[in-house]
Amino acid sequence: MSSNVSRSPSLHRIGKNTRAQQPPIVRLLNLTKRYEEGAVSHAILHTVNAEMLEGDFVVLLGKSGSGKSTLLNLIGGIDVPSDGEIWVRDTCLTRLNEHALTLFRRDNIGFIFQFFNLIPTLTVLENITLPYELRGRGRREGEKAARALLDRVKLADRANTYPDRLSGGEQQRVALARALVHEPQLILADEPTGNLDEETGETVLALLLELTRDMGKTLIMATHNPEVVAYADVIYHIHEGKLVSEQDSAIATDATSTSARG
Ligand SMILES: Nc1ncnc2c1ncn2[C@@H]1O[C@H](COP(=O)(O)OP(=O)(O)OP(=O)(O)O)[C@@H](O)[C@H]1O
Ligand SMILES: [Mg+2]
Repeated sequence: MSSNVSRSPSLHRIGKNTRAQQPPIVRLLNLTKRYEEGAVSHAILHTVNAEMLEGDFVVLLGKSGSGKSTLLNLIGGIDVPSDGEIWVRDTCLTRLNEHALTLFRRDNIGFIFQFFNLIPTLTVLENITLPYELRGRGRREGEKAARALLDRVKLADRANTYPDRLSGGEQQRVALARALVHEPQLILADEPTGNLDEETGETVLALLLELTRDMGKTLIMATHNPEVVAYADVIYHIHEGKLVSEQDSAIATDATSTSARG
């Protein structure tokens, strides 16, 4: 991974944020998510409390089944918690009805999925323009914004192609443009490189980091790729229903070693 990312001269500015005075964009308050299966209830997330700051690149790690996708779906308003609250800036998602939640998602969230999820019957340009038009903005402006992003993801010449004519990496680059075109506050990416070979994954990751940083967006990414952590501002591990930041675990380790010493 470091190969492509460090080779790219345009990526020099991508590093950790200074993190001074950044307000929280996401707040999780006693967040609990349970799934009921027959008589058995599984708490996937259990009274989670955390804050994610504006402009940060937040990485979620954890073994398969730990709850990474569940958490992203909750923050993005795709799923609803069993208990607790989720705030995105001044909006408490858990107090919105289904319609309001749909509007919230449309206006504020850009999703990037492992399997791209482009609409096969729409051209590349139409796929990217769609979120913009759904926000009630003009088609002409939408196309202008979409073409500018297509240029950034180096697919300007594929605007009228259909997704099934594109490679996986190209489809994911279209999906990046689609996630950003309507200027959402928050980009949620669920294993965005999980279905790509290493080199293609590096290219997509580099583009995603460059675009979100340039546009000043907050990016929360679930991944199994340990190399991504080098670029993160904050790293959380989901473990046994809890969200543990690397900082917390460092403090905990430090406290343990201090008490052991003294
Ligand atoms: N609708 C559902 N009903 C019951 N259990 C579910 C449901 N959706 C997810 N789960 C369970 O919740 C747990 C967390 O799933 P999740 O998809 O969030 O894990 P993940 O960390 O994203 O895993 P992976 O790395 O494999 O993508 C899993 O044990 C899964 O089986
Ligand atoms: Mg997942």
